[in-house]
Order: sequence, then C-alpha cells, then structure tokens
Amino acid sequence: MDVSVRNLSLAREAFDAIIVPVGPDRALQPDGAAVDRAMGGILSTALGDADFEGGVGKAMVIPTLGHLPARRVVVVGIGAAAALSVAAVTRAWSVGIRAARDSGARTVASAAPPTGTDIAATDAYRAAATGAVLGAYEFLEYRTLDRPTRAVDSLTFAADSDEARRGVADGTAVAGGVSLARDLVNQPPDALYPERLAEIAQDVAGRTGLECRIHDRQALESMGAGATLGVGKGSAREPRLIHLTYTPQGPSLGSVGFVGKAITFDTGGINLKPTGGGLEHMKSDMAGGAAVIGAMSVLRALGVPFTVHGVVASAENMLSSTAFRPGDVLRAMNGKTIEVISTDAEGRLVLADALTYTARQGAHAMIDLATLTGASVVALGQQAAGVFGTSQPLVDDILAASGRTGELMWHMPLWPEYRELIRGDVADLKNSGGRPAGAVTAALFLKEFTEGVDWVHLDIAGPAWTERVTDLSTKGGTGYPVRTLLAFLENRASRRPNA
Ligand code: BES
Ligand code: MN
Ligand code: ZN
Repeated sequence: MDVSVRNLSLAREAFDAIIVPVGPDRALQPDGAAVDRAMGGILSTALGDADFEGGVGKAMVIPTLGHLPARRVVVVGIGAAAALSVAAVTRAWSVGIRAARDSGARTVASAAPPTGTDIAATDAYRAAATGAVLGAYEFLEYRTLDRPTRAVDSLTFAADSDEARRGVADGTAVAGGVSLARDLVNQPPDALYPERLAEIAQDVAGRTGLECRIHDRQALESMGAGATLGVGKGSAREPRLIHLTYTPQGPSLGSVGFVGKAITFDTGGINLKPTGGGLEHMKSDMAGGAAVIGAMSVLRALGVPFTVHGVVASAENMLSSTAFRPGDVLRAMNGKTIEVISTDAEGRLVLADALTYTARQGAHAMIDLATLTGASVVALGQQAAGVFGTSQPLVDDILAASGRTGELMWHMPLWPEYRELIRGDVADLKNSGGRPAGAVTAALFLKEFTEGVDWVHLDIAGPAWTERVTDLSTKGGTGYPVRTLLAFLENRASRRPNA
C-alpha cells in the first residue's frame, strides 16, 4: 500500500473510499463537515440513523450514492475527545483501512486525523499512517489457496502541511519496522534459523544504514560465549550473535543497547515441551530478536540522535545426542558458571552472553526483549509485557513510551530476597528457580550478566504473538514492542542528553 500526502479536496476527487473520523458526540471534524456539506448533509443523517457511537475500533461504511465523486465514506470511531491518544488514532486508522479494503476499495483518501492536548498534528498523522499500514498487513508468502483478492493500493492523506508530511513519513517508517518484525516471527522455523536470520539482518543493515557484524560459532567460542553455545549444541543449525550498530549523522547524545532473544525454534530441548503445550507456536521464540531488527531498521529514517546497538542472540533449541542436558554446567561470557536445571530455560542462557556483550560495547542503558517465561503470561495475560529493571528512571521512560503507544506493560519486582532461588549447588547459578515467581527469577538471572549497566528487561512472552485478529494485528506475530522502543528513544532525545 502506497501512503502519501497531497493537497486535495475530499469532496471533489473520485476515490473508492474516504476515511473520516467521528467521536461519540458525532461531531464531524472540519474535513468531515466539508464532505457532509458536499453530500447535502446525508453523512450526518446516516450517522444519526445508524446510531454510530464513535467508539475506538468501530467503523462504518456509508455509500455516497452519487452525492460525492468518492464512492464510500468510511467513518472511524475515535472515542471521546478527552481520551484522545496516539494509541486510539492508531487503532482507528487500522480498523478504518480494513473496513475500506473489505468494502472493495483500492484507492483510499483520508481526512485529517484528530489532534488534542496530548497529540499534536505530527503525532496524529504519524499514528494514522502507522495504524493504516499495520491494519493492512498480511503475511501471504506461503499461501497458494484462497489468497485475498481485496487490497488497498493507495492511501492519500488530504493535507498540505509539513506536520502531515513528516508524520506520514515517520508513521510509514515505524509501521515498516513493525511489519518487518511480524514477517520474521511469521516465517516458519524451517525457513528461519540462526544463520538465515543473520543473513536477513545483514541485508536489512545494508538497506537502512546500519553496520552489521555476525559472530558465528567459532567467534562465539573465542568470546567465551559458553551459555549460547550450550543452547545451540543440539541443533545442526549453528548459533549466531548478530550485532547491528546505528550511528547518528550528527553528534551522538549517548549509547543505548537493544538486546533480543531469538530462539528460532524452542522445542524445550531434552526437557521437551509437551504436545498441546503450544509447540507449534515456538517459532515465535525469536520475537525479541525480530523486534530488535525491526526497530533498528527505522532509526535512520527517524533521525534518532543516539548510538544504538542492536544485539540478537540466536540459536535453535533442539534435542539430539549432541544437545546440552540437565545437569550440565555452562560458562557464560562473563565467567559465571551455570548449572542447567532445565534445557527449556534456554532464553536466559543466550541472553546472558548477549547482555555481557552489549554492556561491553559501552551502552549507557540496555533494554532486552524476550519471550522468556510462561509465568509472565500467567501473571499479566496475553496482552502485556512485564517490565523489570535496575534503574527506576529507565523503567519510567519505558512505561511512559508504552503508555503512549498503547503496547501494555506493567512494572514487576526484582526482589533480591528471591535471588537464592537461582543460586547454584555445583555452579554459581542455576538456570531455573522453579515455578514460584518464574518471571521474576528469570529476570534476576539476567541481572547477573548486566555488568552494572542500567538495564530493563521486557518479558514479551504474551504480547509477541496473538491467536486472534486484533484491532492492530492479524493472527501470528504482532511486532510488539517495536513502536514502544522507538517512542522511548524519541522521548529521551527530546528530553535529556545521555541516554
Ligand atoms: N520460550 C519459552 C517461554 C514461552 C512460553 C514463550 C509460552 C511464549 C509462550 C521459554 O523458553 C520457556 O520455555 N520457559 C520456561 C522456563 C522454565 C523451564 C523455568 C517456562 O516458562 O516454562
Ligand atoms: Mn524454553
Ligand atoms: Zn524459549
């Protein structure tokens, strides 16, 4: 779908559909009011007759029946003005573009998205463009039957301002990063294994102005990345540590690290996951790494003023005669030894090395993203990530960014009292503290490898994947939390130096 901005009159041009926002008061914004006038008031009459309530996530298609060159008006609910937010506009345009597509529209125009105290014009256009692209997202690479015949070719925002152009450019860039993360998660695990992920990262780096270094098995051996190598041992597909670097054009205000778990398939290893335990979705166990690559791919387009390291720890957790076993002791890059209690607690092992590696790149702040524990899903459900961190200001910044994008997150504890649950018997640490507070002990384990650098861990086991179609996502990979990572960097850039 091509997304653009053009100075045009919605009342005069023959699009297949025009998107018009409406709140619960059914008051049309200026663009919508002009369309209504051109239609002789039929739009507002239809809204009243249909009792359209203007809630976020609701849309209604109204045929223009020759009263307008455009064939249909797609009214999208934006909720009450007092509650207007970036998240609401994003959802509204996602639902709106789907309604337009499902009505058969190929060329779509959009009225101005609503602005408010918390959402300036640039933010509004960015949110609308992001939402529209995400709403139109589909993963069709492997579908040969029942391919959808309906798709929107172009979305044109009727505007002539720098705010609109900037917002739409940024919004499509952001949605491109989210879509890339979704594509990577949706790829089947036979097609996407560590080496392939590294090749894709290299390719993305070339296209988006990043440096890329790939550390293969030998390089991991010389770095002493024994935890990653242990996890990867059981698979014929060797592990990779992928290191993307973004350097700003102008002066750098500081250095941030994004660290992603990318287990391209998690069988559980010798501690094999049971049938019915969601094994078929364990291709999504690389969603943290996918989000890192997705977010990194947009930094140049957004002109982020920080140096950003994107580090992706990738391995395939298989079982075989060469697989690591419960009882094995692994030595991580920082020298700490780890007794393997469960081969299914593999994410924290690859992240152990990746966090040490990232800290040693000189990052002032590190954020890791990982589909780490089922316990996080039990605690917070399918839609939210747990946020753990050693720096309250960093946690606050992440939560503020999450509040803006609508990607749900909740602060969780890192109680030192629970550290004894992961103290090893024969080694320094054990890789599982058992069922109680499973998401907390996993985070406490990771903390051992952060080298004192300010750090936040996001357990995205729930929201990285969706079993149902949502307002913003198809079934499968969601691209969570690419938007929040980007908002986090941008908020920091506008507020204070030294990330
Ligand atoms: N990848 C899983 C966590 C997961 C579960 C992600 C469900 C998405 C949905 C992780 O590697 C894992 O298996 N964790 C174990 C840890 C346990 C053995 C300490 C878990 O959560 O059961
Ligand atoms: Mn596992
Ligand atoms: Zn896993």
